[in-house]
Amino acid sequence: MATVTTPSSKGAETAAKTPRARQPQSATLVIFGAGGDLTKRLVVPALYHLVQARKLPDRFAIIGVDRNDQTTEQWCQTLTEIIRTMAPASRIDASAWSWLTHRMHYMPADFTQVETFTHLEELLAQREQNSIANVLFYLAVGERFFGAIVEQLGHAGLTKQSKGTWRRVIIEKPFGHDLSSAKTLNTQILKVLSENQIYRIDHFLGKETVQNILVLRFANGIFEPLWNRDHIDHVQITAAETIGVESRGRFYERIGALRDMVPNHLFQLVAMIGMEPPISFDADAVRAKKTELLQAIHSISPENAIRGQYGNGLVFGQKVQDYRHEPNVAPDSGTETYVAAKLDIDNWRWAGVPFYLRTGKRLSARTTEIAIQFRQAPYALFRHTPIERLPANILTLRIQPDEGLSVSFSAKRPGSEIEIDGVAMDFAYRDYFEPVATVGYETLIYDCLIGDATLFQRADTVEAAWGAVQGLIDSWARDPATDFPNYAAGSAGPNAADRLLARDGRAWLPLSADHPHTAIRPDITAPVAAEVTP
Ligand code: BG6
Repeated sequence: MATVTTPSSKGAETAAKTPRARQPQSATLVIFGAGGDLTKRLVVPALYHLVQARKLPDRFAIIGVDRNDQTTEQWCQTLTEIIRTMAPASRIDASAWSWLTHRMHYMPADFTQVETFTHLEELLAQREQNSIANVLFYLAVGERFFGAIVEQLGHAGLTKQSKGTWRRVIIEKPFGHDLSSAKTLNTQILKVLSENQIYRIDHFLGKETVQNILVLRFANGIFEPLWNRDHIDHVQITAAETIGVESRGRFYERIGALRDMVPNHLFQLVAMIGMEPPISFDADAVRAKKTELLQAIHSISPENAIRGQYGNGLVFGQKVQDYRHEPNVAPDSGTETYVAAKLDIDNWRWAGVPFYLRTGKRLSARTTEIAIQFRQAPYALFRHTPIERLPANILTLRIQPDEGLSVSFSAKRPGSEIEIDGVAMDFAYRDYFEPVATVGYETLIYDCLIGDATLFQRADTVEAAWGAVQGLIDSWARDPATDFPNYAAGSAGPNAADRLLARDGRAWLPLSADHPHTAIRPDITAPVAAEVTP
């Protein structure tokens, strides 16, 4: 994260703090959960892209650990098939792929058993003889295994750093399933590891557009002076998906949309938008500011949150079934697949500026975006014109899929009357930068290898995030929803979510993958009559 490249007259110029430190040292990557979906679809493809980008050290090895009884060749074969499905055969970079597969070793083992770690120690010792002493353990396994694996690594002496070598552990999401389990897990792993050995992943931080938020805010002179309650009316953060729960019913039934998306992915976006400027890109400088922001979020009250569950409907013209008929979902399930919430952030910058969040499955569009709506300009000048209301400016940061940014503003419509129209200035990544093959994990893995923890969660960050939603989790558990399903698949979510904003005289931006939001529609900017939810 710390390398800064700026264009100059001579072309791109790299202003890295310590360029040498960004060259990964030789290392072994041990993946627990080597046969799982995450490894196959994200971790290994990300490694392949890193090989193509020449970002991996020459002395690099991978040990895949999982229960399935298969050979290294069989493991590689499965991975090759997955890579083939991601790129047409003609486009597979055979030399990069073989570079990687030649460094892979599969170890069939049960990671709940002590012998596994003894065996692993032997394998790692062999690599140490080949001067690959640094080890990155990747826990691509279910949450319930995190603590136990770290303890076993500790007992086997595998987390001990010595003679300038390092041992690091990547822990996947979800980090706990509530505040108390997150605290317990932190206590458990911090008995074995020091904080700077732990890399808690939130894959939203691997997205270029999310990382760009800091650059947008702090590398440009025009935004930061406006970035506060004097100029911003409110912020809307949307992570809408068109897919349903797919094959993850068993997991999702226990977790639901609130725990799955809010204290992690959506709060990462909130933190990037809301944090104070850090003093540097140094990991702790950035993480301290993000954590302070999360600590300033008021505990979300049930009055400020809406839950929903999808029923039958049409997505892209295709009939889809309701959540309760998805595989491994209870026919009377009370699990929410949609959440909308209003956040109050209690600090000098944001007091009185609500952050509205919404996320859900089986919605009408796939889009993740942040819309910053500015306060309206004073109206006096337009009193004697046909203009009844001045629309607000909206800065939209499009995280995915159409990455970019737009600013909507008013322009005079040509003609003799003073009439205004909503227009937008738009920046699309694809217009300026070559597309880079990515699954979103490349930067994260690379940063672990070079020891840059900027994009990872600290113990206090995850606890602050769970702290803000814990009251809501408890309240929803005590008081199950009685109106599920309450939104049709392919819709914009439950009507109650509209009322959440209408209550404050505001409205959601249209949920659409069509960008940018050029038309400043009267129904978006008009103060809506306050409606009180019973
Ligand atoms: C995961 C959630 O962490 O993020 C999923 O468990 C969700 O339910 C996914 O679909 C969304 O990530 P992305 O990168 O596809 O927006």
